[in-house]
Parts: sequence; structure tokens; C-alpha cells
Amino acid sequence: AKKAVLGPLVGAVDQGTSSTRFLVFNSKTAELLSHHQVEIKQEFPREGWVEQDPKEILQSVYECIEKTCEKLGQLNIDISNIKAIGVSNQRETTVVWDKLTGEPLYNAVVWLDLRTQSTVENLSKRIPGNNNFVKSKTGLPLSTYFSAVKLRWLLDNVRKVQKAVEENRALFGTIDSWLIWSLTGGVNGGVHCTDVTNASRTMLFNIHSLEWDKELCEFFGIPMEILPNVRSSSEIYGLMKAGALEGVPISGCLGDQSAALVGQMCFQDGQAKNTYGTGCFLLCNTGHKCVFSEHGLLTTVAYKLGRDKPVYYALEGSVAIAGAVIRWLRDNLGIIKSSEEIEKLAKEVGTSYGCYFVPAFSGLYAPYWEPSARGIICGLTQFTNKCHIAFAALEAVCFQTREILDAMNRDCGIPLSHLQVDGGMTSNKILMQLQADILYIPVVKPSMPETTALGAAMAAGAAEGVGVWSLEPEDLSAVTMERFEPQINAEESEIRYSTWKKAVMKSMGWVT
Ligand code: G3P
Repeated sequence: AKKAVLGPLVGAVDQGTSSTRFLVFNSKTAELLSHHQVEIKQEFPREGWVEQDPKEILQSVYECIEKTCEKLGQLNIDISNIKAIGVSNQRETTVVWDKLTGEPLYNAVVWLDLRTQSTVENLSKRIPGNNNFVKSKTGLPLSTYFSAVKLRWLLDNVRKVQKAVEENRALFGTIDSWLIWSLTGGVNGGVHCTDVTNASRTMLFNIHSLEWDKELCEFFGIPMEILPNVRSSSEIYGLMKAGALEGVPISGCLGDQSAALVGQMCFQDGQAKNTYGTGCFLLCNTGHKCVFSEHGLLTTVAYKLGRDKPVYYALEGSVAIAGAVIRWLRDNLGIIKSSEEIEKLAKEVGTSYGCYFVPAFSGLYAPYWEPSARGIICGLTQFTNKCHIAFAALEAVCFQTREILDAMNRDCGIPLSHLQVDGGMTSNKILMQLQADILYIPVVKPSMPETTALGAAMAAGAAEGVGVWSLEPEDLSAVTMERFEPQINAEESEIRYSTWKKAVMKSMGWVT
């Protein structure tokens, strides 16, 4: 017998850099009922290049949906209660595909990819007017991180892409667009769209007018007809065309960091969250104002939850490498077999014993924006072992967060009294305690770390025409909070932080 209906359910795709997940929530309590996760391959065809297979990504989404539905069936939960699906995704990662065949024309060029360093250098020499041309329109520095330069590279270097553009067959999208187009039918009427949050990471989108910017497209040489339609983050884009959830509306779409901001209910000016995924991203809601940073932070669209709803902006501190350093210890050094093992190793020693690890694998992002930096491990002695290196890797995540929190406090004027955190790594208790010690403020984490997916589900459930999620705190009754208080003294915390800064200085200037 089917279980009693729990209230309308909402599903969310969370397509991150390291893995894809599909999760189903009860819209009345935010209880996570079931989920499935699949790891995604990353290819490194050359030093600094990072690619993924768009078809593998799409396949992983279908697999996660099917498996989650199976699990719900085993729990006697009727999947016809799923009323909407939200999509959240790794941002900036760039895909170009053929709208007639549905085939990607090249691998996805991942946000971490550094191949466009010379493209960026060349473009920065011919910025029109003042140096602020790109930043004032987009909130972003001209960097390899964002989609416009990746797309420029594809147009310059991939014959198939050039040909498809000439023949009017090419579509560009970040991962959200690729997924929504494919899930809503692909070559058979797929909807080519993105939302304002993802668009704001392309460096082609004007964050004031909320439209693609003609001057930016001219500057980067991007044909505007290949760009997706920009929609709000919460509205029905189309219906699932296949699989167990065929016919269910896709009605939420947010870049993963915006989704986490929504999932943490950071709806007020000054509320902030930090998400630990492949990278680490601290976003502070600045309300309807675009605040421009003086300390290396980005200005980005936070969300717009409905066609007629106002837009909210955020200041963002972006760290490229967080969870990725653990994956590197596993895949490249082999000192752990699974990511969870890092906690055990770190716990064995409880200190890095003076070892500092700056994982600047893709240069350094905020607050430095230094593409010439490369990773270093320093302070080694004959006493250092893999446990100390594991500990130093965790500390690195915390120190990088401290750097972006300091920048945020300086830009906002009012220091954060505590830090709301989420993401897979927050189940690591050592990391959470270290984070509280290094920030010297309490760290607060939800019992259910999948806040990104929750935010996408909330946006989907709240959409006009769906209306099963009210976005009020009562709807999150299943989520409880855990708090970590600083346990070392402020002086010790400062000494460790200043030694970290010395290590950061050593990591700079490796590539010229
Ligand atoms: O900007 C990149 C970001 O969206 C990636 O997120 O969760 O894969 O670290 P994640």
C-alpha cells in the first residue's frame, strides 16, 4: 500500500563540479525523503585545462532521477506527489551544442579551466574606455573564471563550433541551459533558457538591466543569437519530456551558490552563507543594491524569485579549491582512499605541525585574483607525515574562508557575528571546529547539508502555477542547526592566520 501523502513533494537536481545529485523534499517541512548521487569525471587534457563530458553530466541527471524514484518506491512514497523540479548547477562551465542533433560540439569547459589566460591578457589590453568597462556592467573582473572567455576560446579554436555558428545550428549555455534544454525535449522542442543568476556569471550579462549586453557581446565577439533566453529563477520553463518524472514542470533554476543562499533563507540585506563544495563561496545578500567591492569580491545576481518579483544582489567571495583539495589528495597523491578518510587522518594528529598547504591549483581567486599563483606545501620537516598534510589541507579551506570573510566585513562595514555554512564538507566536524577557531566567530550549520538542492526545490515549489512552497521559515521545520564555538584563543588564531598569509605570498608568481 502507498504511504499516506506527506504533502506535495519537490525534486531538485544539484549538478556540481564533482558530482550530480537528485533529491526529493517534502515542501511542508523541507524533510529530505530520498536522494541519489553520482560522481562526475573531470578530464585534465593539458596542464591547467579542466573539461567534462556534457553527455555524461546529462546521463548522470537521468540516472539520479531514476534511482531516487526507485528509492521512493521502496519507501512506499508515490512519485506522483512530486509537483515540480528545480535545477541548481555549477556555474560558468560552458557548453556549445548543435540544436539539430543535440550533440555537444566540444567538452564542457569547466569554470576552473585556465586555458584562456592569454585570451584574458589580450582582451585586457583593448578594454574600451576605462578599465571598469566589464566590471561596471557585470560585477566581475576580467578573468578565466567566467564563461565569455571560454566561449571565445571555443569560437577561436574548435572548427565544429565555428561551423555550427555559421550554419545557425549552435546553442551556447551554462550547465543549467544544457540540462533544461535536454530535459524539456532537446531536439524535439527543448527550451533554451537560463536564469538571471547563471547569466550573471557569463560576463555577457548586464546586471543592472538584467539583459544580455550588446557592447559586451561585441567586445568578446560573441554572436547574440546563440545565447539562451534569460528568465527569473522561479517560473515554469517547461515540462520533463522523458523518464519517471515525465510531465513534471521544471520551475526553479539557480546557480548553485544562489540556490544555497535561498536554501539558508538569507533573504535579508546583510545575511550571508558559505558553501563548501569543490570550491568555497561566501555570498552576502545586499538587497536590491548592487554593491561594488573594494576588496576583491564579486557583485552578482543573488536571485529573482518570479517574473514580477524584484531582483536581489549579493557580494561574493569565491575560492576555487576547497573540496577539490581532498579529491586531489585522493586521486593524485593517493594518501586517502575516500574523501571521508581525511577526517580520520587529521584527527590522528590534531595539528599540521607547522605545515601550510596553499592549494592554488587554478591560481588564486578572491581576494587576490592572481592567475600566476600555483599550489605549494611548505613548512615541511622530517617529522611531517600524511596526517599533517591532511590537516593542513583542511586548514587551507578555513584560512581561505577567513580571507574572504575579512574582505566581506571590510566591504560591508558590519562584521558578521557568526557564519552560516553548508555543503558536503560541513559533515566533517574537525573542519567545522577549525573554521570556528580560525574565524574566531561561531559557525552554524544545518542538520541537512544539502542546502543548495533545498534552495532550488524551494524556488521550484514557489513558482507561479506550482505554488506548493511558501518560502516561510515554518516550511523548514525539519532543518535543525548545529553550532561550533571557537575553542582556541584569539592570539593563537591570529598567529596561525598570519603564517598562512606568508605561505600565500610564496605561492604567487610561479607562472609568468
Ligand atoms: O562558480 C563555481 C561554482 O558554482 C561551483 O560550485 O559546488 O561545484 O563547488 P561547486
